[in-house]
Amino acid sequence: MRIAIGADHGGVDLKDAIRQYLEAQGHEVQDFGTHSHESADYPDYARAVAEAVAGGQFDRGILICGTGQGMAMTANKVRGIRAAVCLETYSARMSREHNNANVLCLGGRVVGPGLALDIVDVCTPNCYHCAPTVAAFAAGCHVIVEKPCATSVAEVEKMIAARDKAGKQFMVAQSLRFTPEHLAMRRWVDEGMVGDIYYGRLSLLRPRGVPAWGDFIVKEMSAGGPCYDLAVHILDLALYLMNHPEPVSVSANYWLEISNKPSLMAHDPKRYTVPDEMAAGFVRFANGACIALETSWAINAPEGTYNVFLAGTKGGMQNNPLTLVREEAGLLTNTTVQVNPDAGIASHSEEIRRFVESIKKGLPSPVPGEQALITQRILDGIYKSAVKGKEVKV
Ligand SMILES: NC(=O)c1ccc[n+]([C@@H]2O[C@H](COP(=O)([O-])OP(=O)(O)OC[C@H]3O[C@@H](n4cnc5c(N)ncnc54)[C@H](O)[C@@H]3O)[C@@H](O)[C@H]2O)c1
Repeated sequence: MRIAIGADHGGVDLKDAIRQYLEAQGHEVQDFGTHSHESADYPDYARAVAEAVAGGQFDRGILICGTGQGMAMTANKVRGIRAAVCLETYSARMSREHNNANVLCLGGRVVGPGLALDIVDVCTPNCYHCAPTVAAFAAGCHVIVEKPCATSVAEVEKMIAARDKAGKQFMVAQSLRFTPEHLAMRRWVDEGMVGDIYYGRLSLLRPRGVPAWGDFIVKEMSAGGPCYDLAVHILDLALYLMNHPEPVSVSANYWLEISNKPSLMAHDPKRYTVPDEMAAGFVRFANGACIALETSWAINAPEGTYNVFLAGTKGGMQNNPLTLVREEAGLLTNTTVQVNPDAGIASHSEEIRRFVESIKKGLPSPVPGEQALITQRILDGIYKSAVKGKEVKV
């Protein structure tokens, strides 16, 4: 579609964000300015865009000032223009379906780029991730969904199909990928310091750490315990650093011995209906790589662990403490790394920043549904294998 876009100083940032987004979607966009935050007269831009649309050079126009009102009043004076101020998505859709509007007017000081880009953030309990995600795609929104993406392979597949039908962006909020330590590990992988990773040992154990808030322990809300709450984090991280090899089989077991009885933990043991409080498993991949995984909310262990260790053909690495292991100058050397606490990288805000950037610039999703599907196949495999008491194909 050919789109003319213009703004005054009150709408210039939103204009630039929308222009980049539309260009990334393949539309032909002409920017009529303004290009700075210096005070500019909105009627100049409104008239230029409205006349270009009315004259047939463009299919649609977008005008942005502080509130959108002045732009609409001016544009509607041009014969053939039906300009509508839309400050939320329902009015925007109705302005097309019922009013045949050809110019959209937005308020740069009212509508943030988030609303203009239509992003839905699904952060409900795990069992309620799939339905709102599918509905949000059907309503034409981009979706970021909390980890775990869903509670079965079938649900993740449904979410991916809805994304493809809508042609929208989909990200799973695996925030651990974006901590400074893990960004450093990804950098070692990208710079070839580790080579091909063939073994991972992942451990996230809390000796006594059942969540006492929310519905994490209720089966019909969360489906599973630490596998869905904790293992999903370290598994996603390891798979990401291993460049997502194809999983083949899982052998696993889980236990529930402590959390469903009175203990020194604060949660109500009578509410504890998820099947696992501790799980351990072994995953095989088609390329020969393997992962050993353990996770718990409750175990009689001397201390908690939070360690992702990965061994590759050229080096090894772990996250806690952040260490690179390599042969250097004829010596096997452990390099520990300082992570600058002032670097300003907070994983959750970095995750959102990357999601918005991927939408605006048309980049691949930072955590696409296809990667969540691999994680989910392994999680499903852990539960299935534990119930069957033997290795299962995934
Ligand atoms: N990435 C992370 O580090 C991280 C941290 C915490 C939680 N999470 C994930 O976020 C999700 C939510 O966890 P939380 O700790 O915020 O839980 P929470 O219980 O604090 O919040 C859940 C919210 O969902 C709402 N809700 C419940 N059922 C709903 C339904 N059927 N429809 C609409 N809304 C519903 C509740 O009213 C509540 O506001 C979980 O999937 C969890 O795994 C991720």
